[in-house]
Amino acid sequence: MTVRGPILAIETSCDETAAAVVDGRRVVSSVVASQAELHAPYGGVVPEVAARHHLGTVNAVVDEALERAGLRLGEVSAIAVTQRPGLIGALLIGVATAKALAYASGLPLIMVDHLHGHIAATWLDPIALDPPYVSLIASGGHTRLDLVTDLRSPRTLGQTIDDAAGEAIDKGARVLGLDYPGGPALERLAAGGSRTAHRFPVGLRGAGTRDFSFAGVKTSLLYAVRDLGEPLAEDVRADLAASYQEAVMRPLADRLIAAARDEGVPAVSLGGGVAANGRLRELVAEGAARAGLRLAVPDRSLCTDNAAMIGAAAQFTDVIAWPDFLGMDAVATAPPGGIAA
Ligand code: KG4
Ligand code: ZN
Repeated sequence: MTVRGPILAIETSCDETAAAVVDGRRVVSSVVASQAELHAPYGGVVPEVAARHHLGTVNAVVDEALERAGLRLGEVSAIAVTQRPGLIGALLIGVATAKALAYASGLPLIMVDHLHGHIAATWLDPIALDPPYVSLIASGGHTRLDLVTDLRSPRTLGQTIDDAAGEAIDKGARVLGLDYPGGPALERLAAGGSRTAHRFPVGLRGAGTRDFSFAGVKTSLLYAVRDLGEPLAEDVRADLAASYQEAVMRPLADRLIAAARDEGVPAVSLGGGVAANGRLRELVAEGAARAGLRLAVPDRSLCTDNAAMIGAAAQFTDVIAWPDFLGMDAVATAPPGGIAA
């Protein structure tokens, strides 16, 4: 069973504390408190720091989302929360908060899969994409292709066998001396360089696969920098950045378009923080135009972690009646084979 009416959604799986009110396809309010600056000195997300910060922030973020929506807690029809996958300590803060709020206000609870949220982001206004489509989610933690014929049960077609695309971008950026998170900085550096200056290997190329691998290209960059010798001239760094970015983005775009053609769907969608990358958008747009596919790319605020997308997926996830959810828990891992909706 699913619900109608406004849903209060909460997301704390990684380093953003987020809450939103979503009603059907409409995002009524969406608040995201990013911890990115807190983790930057460590070069990555520190799980305990993330959990502690969520704890201090989540109530204020929930209050702000309700206030901006002009609603009191008792006026929403359900509470949704990210159950999995993610950092367990971080997830637990959101799940405990959602359970407490639902219990205290007699509301049902909806436990949402984070990847399901990313996939459902394009269902929201103003994009309002309906299945069937193939979705590419590429972030710091995930890289996945899903066939969406029904938003209740997306089916995973392929995923990374080692690093996530965003992780590869962040590690590459670090090798080139850029600060974490390196995606935007690497893209800026790449803008002045040549995509063909260096031939970095494309992981699993020619294997006819829908999976991804980024460990090889990362190692190649490391060797290239070592062989060139430090310090690198600015134009050499730009060439390395552009060639490296190309080796990460090309398989993402190519396999997304190939999967959509093979599955015979009319549309593709992008999500996750890496979807902000201009070169990825360009490659996917070119491929989609050639193949006659509709391309759905949400606004950047819906690509990176947020709670509105959790509210979207919640509408395609079974509701747990009050108070049956009290025994539910957060889970660090993704379920095998796709989404546990
Ligand atoms: O979805 P997201 O905000 O957080 C999660 O990982 O869940 O994604 C963050 C990732 C980081 O690896 C970041 O470097 C990457 O997205 N990213 C980019 C760009 N902006 C963010 N990668 C390439 N180009 C960008 N412009
Ligand atoms: Zn995410």
